[in-house]
Amino acid sequence: MFGNKAINPQKYFTIVTYGCQMNEHDSEKMTGILESMGYTWTDNKEEADLILYNTCCVRKHAEERVYGNIGMLKDLKQRKPDVILGVCGCMMQQKGVAQEMKKRFPFIDLIFGTFNLHNLPKLLEEVSEKKETVIEILDDQGRIYEDVPVKRKKGVSAWVTIMYGCNNFCSYCIVPYVRGRERSRHPDNIIKEVEKLGREGVKEIILLGQNVNSYGKDLEGKITFSRLLRKLDQIENIKRIRFMTSHPKDLSEDLILTIRDCQRVCNQLHLPIQSGSSNILKKMNRNYTREEYLNLVRRIRKEIPDIGLSTDIIVGFPGETDKDFSDTVDLIKQVKFDSAFMFAYSKRTGTPAARMGEQIDEETKKRRLEQLIKIQNAISKEKNMLLKNKTVEVLVEGLSKNNKNVLTGRTDTGKIVNFTSDVSLDKLYGKIVKVRITHPKSWSLTGEMISAQ
Ligand code: SAH
Ligand code: SF4
Ligand code: F3S
Repeated sequence: MFGNKAINPQKYFTIVTYGCQMNEHDSEKMTGILESMGYTWTDNKEEADLILYNTCCVRKHAEERVYGNIGMLKDLKQRKPDVILGVCGCMMQQKGVAQEMKKRFPFIDLIFGTFNLHNLPKLLEEVSEKKETVIEILDDQGRIYEDVPVKRKKGVSAWVTIMYGCNNFCSYCIVPYVRGRERSRHPDNIIKEVEKLGREGVKEIILLGQNVNSYGKDLEGKITFSRLLRKLDQIENIKRIRFMTSHPKDLSEDLILTIRDCQRVCNQLHLPIQSGSSNILKKMNRNYTREEYLNLVRRIRKEIPDIGLSTDIIVGFPGETDKDFSDTVDLIKQVKFDSAFMFAYSKRTGTPAARMGEQIDEETKKRRLEQLIKIQNAISKEKNMLLKNKTVEVLVEGLSKNNKNVLTGRTDTGKIVNFTSDVSLDKLYGKIVKVRITHPKSWSLTGEMISAQ
């Protein structure tokens, strides 16, 4: 299917990616496809013969950035009329957006959605034959394509999708509408892919799915997420396995014990709470209460006391009162998450929450968000301070972005550690080393290497 349509090998392409790891990984697949067609990656848009924008629509801000940046391409297209401009990803999958794009930006050559990126070679062929914008948005999610080539950014860790789509329909969220229903990959295909990555030198696997806890429910047989993890835990060469995201309503006792018992599965969990108010959680269609969430955290910490726990929180959901918000503040103070991604509610057309009354004004949302971030930052710092002068094990990933004399990596619990070392990166890359933490901060830890294992 791929690789047999070699075109001029001198053609260059680039992809601009917005959104989550799922989208980043889709861009790695499109990179694989394009390279198999003879295209070469470039970081320079001016040099590119093909520019793809892989879009996100989870919040309005993400969409605005896409519109702004695509608008700026008009000038490039005027100077270089032969450059092919394509827009794809979640945003295109929303009703009417593709047509709107075509109207606002008639210079775009290609528009496609999230279900058909494997069609990229065919679509590019159509672009070369047609004068007007080629649009292909499928409503039908179709089957899972296992034979798509992937070109990962070279690194210690690799993303592996274990399932696509989402069935949860949280009332604020657009993802189920643009990514379709839950579809799990067959475990044998996942295992094969991870084994191959292990042979290629990858040390850490990050399993991706909108709700990994419901992995396997759509497959025949008795496969569950825990069972998949236990199988993956046997694979040689892989040192660490992480995954995201876990929906609290589906997190089983079995999974807690699996994380505790499996040597390669990291002591880290991303467990979005979204709100600390049961009233709001109900309106969000999250299917758990504040108390159930707190109980779950207790059970997890009983089995895995040093678990690195992170979360997502939305403030200003329709109808959120000061009391509801203070319940969220109270919850984060109780739980003491290691870190949290915090967002102001963003109205998404087509979702039930967009039609709810009592929408919260922007100023209140902003005030609540700032307040929450301030409190959580202090908690993150306080939690990281517990590691001062302690020794942690770090999987070495590369050089720190800000200081090229400093190495960087993560702890088993998912914390970023920047550290100095007498040994050079090429000797430590992909190894697990011992680092003594000297300066804990809110978002990362600083330290010095004690020994390479
Ligand atoms: N499936 C994952 C990720 C979903 S998107 C999960 O369930 O956690 C990532 C985060 O974006 C969500 O957890 C939520 O906190 C946030 N989010 C989703 N829709 C939003 C919206 N309309 N406004 C603000 N934040 C939103
Ligand atoms: Fe969105 Fe909820 Fe699905 Fe996550 S679980 S992708 S928040 S609908
Ligand atoms: Fe991800 Fe954004 Fe799509 S968060 S699934 S890229 S809407």
